[in-house]
Amino acid sequence: MADKLRCAVIGAGAIGLEHLQSLTSCPRAAAVAIAENHPLRAREASERFKIPRSYADFRELLEQPDIDAVTIALPNHLHAPVAVAALEARKHVLLEKPMATNVKEAAKILNAAKKMKRMVMVAQNFRFNRHTQMAKMLIERGDLGEIYHARCFWLRRGGIPRIGSWFTQKRFLLDACLHLLMDFDAASVSAQTHAKFGPRGLGETDWGKSEIDPRKPFDVDDYSVALLKMKSGRSVALEAGWAAFVAPDAREYGIDLLGANAGLSLYPARLIRNSPDGFETIQLNGVKVPHSEDRVHHFVSCVLDGKKPLVPPEESLKIQELLDAIYLSSSTGKEVRPK
Ligand SMILES: NC(=O)c1ccc[n+]([C@@H]2O[C@H](COP(=O)([O-])OP(=O)(O)OC[C@H]3O[C@@H](n4cnc5c(N)ncnc54)[C@H](O)[C@@H]3O)[C@@H](O)[C@H]2O)c1
Repeated sequence: MADKLRCAVIGAGAIGLEHLQSLTSCPRAAAVAIAENHPLRAREASERFKIPRSYADFRELLEQPDIDAVTIALPNHLHAPVAVAALEARKHVLLEKPMATNVKEAAKILNAAKKMKRMVMVAQNFRFNRHTQMAKMLIERGDLGEIYHARCFWLRRGGIPRIGSWFTQKRFLLDACLHLLMDFDAASVSAQTHAKFGPRGLGETDWGKSEIDPRKPFDVDDYSVALLKMKSGRSVALEAGWAAFVAPDAREYGIDLLGANAGLSLYPARLIRNSPDGFETIQLNGVKVPHSEDRVHHFVSCVLDGKKPLVPPEESLKIQELLDAIYLSSSTGKEVRPK
């Protein structure tokens, strides 16, 4: 392979533009093409980032032999079919999160990557966050002792992206939390989801570029809560919501880890431990971290250097299994025991 990885971006919406920004600032990558089926967004992205080739149909892009890798920033229901097609066309794939819309689709992606001997990585940006990485180092050093409980949450007051676009028809910090614990095996999952804002047209924000169709139903949840009892004996509590009447001064998102010797609270990263004068809280600002914070740059160097990515697809498959279990528990009203 040449010194530079020749990359293309599929989907030039809000996140696709971030991919293009990362690729064009990456010394080891060349951004050579995009595929975007909305003509105006395709033209604007090509002009802004000076991308020489643009395709309305992603299949035509995948036929180009000089493209080594693609990043996929498409609506979630297109992740699996396009990732599998790209892998079968012998491209390495950086795929936006979530990996797929269910575990069956996610498994197809993993199998295609294995069969074609190509890398696939899900762009779990919170693993690349400096504070997550500081936390990981302290955990690996044993500073927290046994971690018996984790709480992760993301609760917005009004953050539903574009009601009537693909975002709000069928489809958490969970990944970063389980990555810190290095524990992906749940014995049981109990969950409840709600949709109280979206169906009334409330709680919307202007994220995303895709078109809105006001006749389309809002059929996703806008608040969910889950309790995961891990096989290890740990408990993980999860709360995620796009819109809710939460206090304005509440932390919007975070991960809190309770260890026998110390606690960690993210974001920002703080260590809470005993001192001779009682509890002390240490702000973790200065610790050096091992990885680049740019997930696209990390993907490029993993492909070029044949390194294992920070987000192995096997772990993304496990996360997808847990998401499926959360939705199954909510729809059946029962506790689910993943295999
Ligand atoms: N990593 C993060 O922090 C983060 C944040 C937000 C969204 N995401 C994920 O990124 C992905 C994209 O989200 P977004 O906010 O950019 O959405 P978006 O709606 O702004 O962009 C999607 C783009 O895909 C294009 N598209 C749709 N079908 C296509 C096709 N068949 N061929 C070519 N182009 C097609 C649309 O025209 C649009 O421009 C989603 O999976 C989302 O979950 C990740």
